[in-house]
Amino acid sequence: MSQHNAHTKKTYTLASGDKMPAIGLGTWQSGKGQVGEAVKAAINAGYRYIDTALAYGNEAEVGEGVKASGVPREQLWITTKLDNPWHKKVQEGIDTSLKNLGMDYVDLYLMHWPCPLDANDTSKVYDDWTFIDTWREMQKLVGTGKVRNIGVSNFDITNLEKLLNDPSCKIKPAVNQIELHPNNPSKSLVRYCGEKGIHCTGYSCLGSTDSPLYKDPTLLKLAEAKGKTPQQCLLQWGIQNGWDVIPKSVTKERIEANFDLDGWWLTDEEVDQLDNLKDRFKVCGDDWLPIKIFHGDHE
Ligand SMILES: NC(=O)c1ccc[n+]([C@@H]2O[C@H](COP(=O)([O-])OP(=O)(O)OC[C@H]3O[C@@H](n4cnc5c(N)ncnc54)[C@H](OP(=O)(O)O)[C@@H]3O)[C@@H](O)[C@H]2O)c1
Repeated sequence: MSQHNAHTKKTYTLASGDKMPAIGLGTWQSGKGQVGEAVKAAINAGYRYIDTALAYGNEAEVGEGVKASGVPREQLWITTKLDNPWHKKVQEGIDTSLKNLGMDYVDLYLMHWPCPLDANDTSKVYDDWTFIDTWREMQKLVGTGKVRNIGVSNFDITNLEKLLNDPSCKIKPAVNQIELHPNNPSKSLVRYCGEKGIHCTGYSCLGSTDSPLYKDPTLLKLAEAKGKTPQQCLLQWGIQNGWDVIPKSVTKERIEANFDLDGWWLTDEEVDQLDNLKDRFKVCGDDWLPIKIFHGDHE
């Protein structure tokens, strides 16, 4: 099999030189008693990358799953995230995540949302702290050995511009983890990140729980013609478009099927078909937060 077809072995090189795998296991909504087994099943199936977050409340079990897999820590890529009410406590945030995970370092530490919620009243944001202050603190983590790379998540162009243009921003985010599937393709945002040397990770890459994409006639027809599942086609679409994908599943068969991406690919025409689906939906909006996060500049 040529390297070109070995999608599960593909990596993206970040600004630091670190190589981030093209496919990882997502763990949002992966419940207690399930997520450890899912992580173990994924690593046994060949995944070398797990995405978690303090906010998911499952870092400890993710760490147990990693240990139970028997694969050495240094062969894995672990991403976790700073939770919104922790923006003023970045050092404690990473220490808490590392303790939960039972690890000395993470490969990538993300600011989960550009939203510094007041830890004493999460219905509002701090009036004396912005995500720029949070980033200033996150930059201090580089060189401590606790994080190999730092990045952001849920940043649109407006907020990235604010961050990158601030004089305190000395280290560019290595990654922006954003919602990416054919019904939320965010072409302008992906292009902008590419121009700035910021790698994108695609979350909710299958369209999340009860994905409406599974009813899309173009996707279903394409998958049937290729003899692949719609999920495999969605993942291949993301990887071939240049971002890494982190499908979540707690079902062993699905975890394995989602990793069955080698030896085949989508033609340019097939990528184009999925690039141009007409429907739009977003899994993660900003209605649940006290400030506007998305400014409608991502399309
Ligand atoms: N940075 C952020 O703010 C943010 C936001 C959202 C997500 N994320 C990350 O991105 C990851 C993925 O996103 P997501 O969890 O929203 O959704 P997703 O990965 O797009 O979809 C997950 C859903 O698809 C199902 N599924 C998985 N593989 C399948 C298959 N082969 N056939 C049929 N159904 C399948 C899963 O069911 P079962 O589990 O029951 O198998 C689950 O209901 C998250 O887990 C998280 O790590 C980050």
